[in-house]
Amino acid sequence: MAQPKEMRALTRRALAHFCAGSTDQAPTTMSNPVAAYADPARYAREIDRIFRQLPLALALSLELPAPASYRAMYVLETPVLLVRGADGRVRAFLNVCRHRGARLCAPGSGNARIITCPYHAWSYNDRGALISRYGAEAFGDVNQETLGLTELACEERAGLVWVCLSPGRTFNLDTWLGTFAEELATLALGEWVIFEQRELPGPGWKVTLDGYLEAYHHNSLHGRTVGKHTVGNLLVLDTFGPHQRLTFGRRSLGELIETPESDWDTGKHIRLIHNGFPNLSISGILGDHCLVSQVFPGPTPETTITRQTVLVHQPPSTPEARTASELFSAMVLQAVRDEDYPVGFAIQEGLKSGANSAFIYGRNEPAVQNYHQTIARLMNESTDITCIAAADELSAH
Ligand code: FES
Ligand SMILES: [Fe+2]
Repeated sequence: MAQPKEMRALTRRALAHFCAGSTDQAPTTMSNPVAAYADPARYAREIDRIFRQLPLALALSLELPAPASYRAMYVLETPVLLVRGADGRVRAFLNVCRHRGARLCAPGSGNARIITCPYHAWSYNDRGALISRYGAEAFGDVNQETLGLTELACEERAGLVWVCLSPGRTFNLDTWLGTFAEELATLALGEWVIFEQRELPGPGWKVTLDGYLEAYHHNSLHGRTVGKHTVGNLLVLDTFGPHQRLTFGRRSLGELIETPESDWDTGKHIRLIHNGFPNLSISGILGDHCLVSQVFPGPTPETTITRQTVLVHQPPSTPEARTASELFSAMVLQAVRDEDYPVGFAIQEGLKSGANSAFIYGRNEPAVQNYHQTIARLMNESTDITCIAAADELSAH
């Protein structure tokens, strides 16, 4: 988790709000027309610009643990294949054969030094080069060098694999992440162990993300799960260009009022959520467990798929430890699948009713406001959405 010094500063800020019954606030409330959530043409433009041009965290480094590990997935209907090469580097390709377009690997993960197409057995190496063709002589001459897999820009950083879904488009991760890269590095994501991973159908992209960006609903909606220990409506917010770190207070914060700072066990009393724009949320909910959520927009504005990965500090070695991890995993599943997303699906339904022409984000929802302002800036026609321009533009605000 974050460095101890900073944890203390964050705890101090959370405690001040706890004592005052206050929270970090935006200067004003903000209104956003519901077309931002519902208009299909706008949705298509936003997906093309934001999700297909910016680097997305598609996998945890942990999912590609060794040379020859691969992970195949669909992201926004794009078939992606991530492969860790013998040189240790992760590369991303379109998961499509260059002969007649068959899918190379079924979605999932595995190990293969050579990727062989299931259709006519053309084979590719870990760098995507076409290295052999079954029946090459009978097939006839082709220039194999031009028939490597289509590569996507890919870089591994802070325990995550970042990829741009548009072939031929590159990115500068230093510029895009800025100081958020160091912030993510404090999570040491490469040192955890994957306990469970699953995919959950959810409501639309913005409805879903809004719920990851505020503590306002925690006590009302999550009173029996993740909100049980959280101080509702208490948020300490830090921004890193388009990215954000949310600090929530745990109800035990009050114990610190009478405790000298030098004795604070800060990790027990606050909870950090790191939000990588546009669709990554990493939540250290309890000390030994962490939840990574990647929200991928679906084919229409009403749907998403959330990949939830539950991480544990070490593989459970006792029945008690296993039970604790299972309980954590079940709790976050329940909170999201049975509490957040049903509300979100109903919001999607309500959008069609015409009850609202705009949604209002409170002063106590500054991270939601920032998120939508970032989308607006990126969609501004005059913004050159290279990663460099995006980060420059955004950090200027
Ligand atoms: S489509 Fe892959 S070898 Fe023919
Ligand atoms: Fe929630």
